[in-house]
Formats: sequence, C-alpha cells, structure tokens
Amino acid sequence: MEHPAPAVTGEPQVVVVDDAAAAGRIVAATISDTVRRAPTCRLGLATGSTPLPAYRLLVAELRGTGAFARVQAFLLDEYVGLAATDPASYRATIRSELTDAIGVPPASVHAPDPGSGRHADLDAACADYERLLGDGVDLQLLGIGRNGHLGFNEPGTPFDTTTHVVTLSDTTRADNARFFPTPEAVPTHAVTQGLGTIRRARHLLLAATGAAKADAVAAALEGPLDVSCPASALRLHPRVTVVLDRAAAGALS
Ligand code: PGA
Repeated sequence: MEHPAPAVTGEPQVVVVDDAAAAGRIVAATISDTVRRAPTCRLGLATGSTPLPAYRLLVAELRGTGAFARVQAFLLDEYVGLAATDPASYRATIRSELTDAIGVPPASVHAPDPGSGRHADLDAACADYERLLGDGVDLQLLGIGRNGHLGFNEPGTPFDTTTHVVTLSDTTRADNARFFPTPEAVPTHAVTQGLGTIRRARHLLLAATGAAKADAVAAALEGPLDVSCPASALRLHPRVTVVLDRAAAGALS
C-alpha cells in the first residue's frame, strides 16, 4: 500500500484529500504500515462510520494473509450494559467490521468490559482496562464527534483523564441512534479511555470526513487549547496525523 510518512514535527501533520475514500486509503495504509514494521504492535481501533472505508480496504487486502495475527487490538470505548455478543456493542462491531476478517484472534481484541461479572463494578472495569493499556498503544486511530469529543470524552473532560465512566450527551446519543432499533435504546453510559490514556499512544491518527465535522476539526486544530473541545488535546501530543476530506477541512483557515 502507498503510505504517507508522517513527520514527527511536534505539530499535527494535517493531510487533506478529496473525499472519504481517499481518506480511507491513507488511514488503511498507515495502519498496515505500522503492522508491517512491527507485527506484534498494539493497535488502538475506533468504531463509528469514519473508519469504515479504511477497514473495508484492510479486509479486502489482508484477508487470509495472517499479517495481523500477532497484533493486539484495543478499543477506545464501550457502552455500559451491552454484552460483548450484542451486535450494537463495540466489541461485536469491531469483530464484524474488521478484526475477524483480517485474522486478529478474538482473544487479542481488548475493550472495556463494563457491566458483567467482576466488572459489574464499573470502577473495576475502568481500572482493569487502564492497566491493560499500560504505557499506551503504538498507533491509536481516532474519530471526532461533532462536539469535538474523542472516544466518549465529551466537552469538559480534563486532558489528563484515565479510563472512566461517562454519561453520554444528548448529541452523542442522537448521533449513535442509527445503530439501535430506537433512539431510547442507545445506552446512557459508556466507559472510555480518557484523554490522558489516549495521549499515551505513540502515534495518534485522527480521521474526519464530511462537512458535519468541519467546525469540530477547526476547533480542535485552531481553537483554544481547552476542555470545551476535547480534541484540542491532540495538540499536546508530539506525533499526530490528521486525515481530512475537503469537506471536513472546510472551516480551517
Ligand atoms: P463517526 O463517529 O465516525 O461515526 O462520525 C466519530 C465519533 O463520534 O467519535
């Protein structure tokens, strides 16, 4: 795969491409390049619509190759109250969209496990996931919410948070209602890696496509470094690649 060579500049490297398909090609190439260089790497994966073009490319190119067999995958977040087998859970979603098809063993796909067994204690679920993440993943893929959230870190989240329980905002629940039979079925709480957890990754790869993300992208990259835009915390990280289509880059100066 063609891949960009992200520079370590101390400032986000911003790549603007024509459309979501082109953004997907860069994201897929960055992921597969990371794994080619380090086949036992720790990959932070995101769910949501934005990564899907990249995931489809990875599946098309890597199914049956065994290239990802030794990768450890870590999800950003998970709903509280959904079993891992619930198709709307992020654990089930990432398996069906990506990891099963590219041969990451299910036991190597890690996520917060809130609400079951020992993890009926949500604080224990958070502490265990934080411990599992250790000194952070090698590459963390991120989407961004219309309100600037990263994972489920909603506006107001301190930049140094670790894995924690969140009450989902109305915007986020409405945005995610498409994955559920009714809007009321969207869980009210989730467990998410904190902004401090996310920032421990060696390389952050944020992808955003579509005009609905333009204001959040501009706030993240050009607005105040402030908890009102959680994604502005990216600017504290030494190695960040931001992949945008033209529409998502539309409000940048
Ligand atoms: P999306 O979600 O990729 O479905 O737009 C991103 C996010 O809300 O973090």
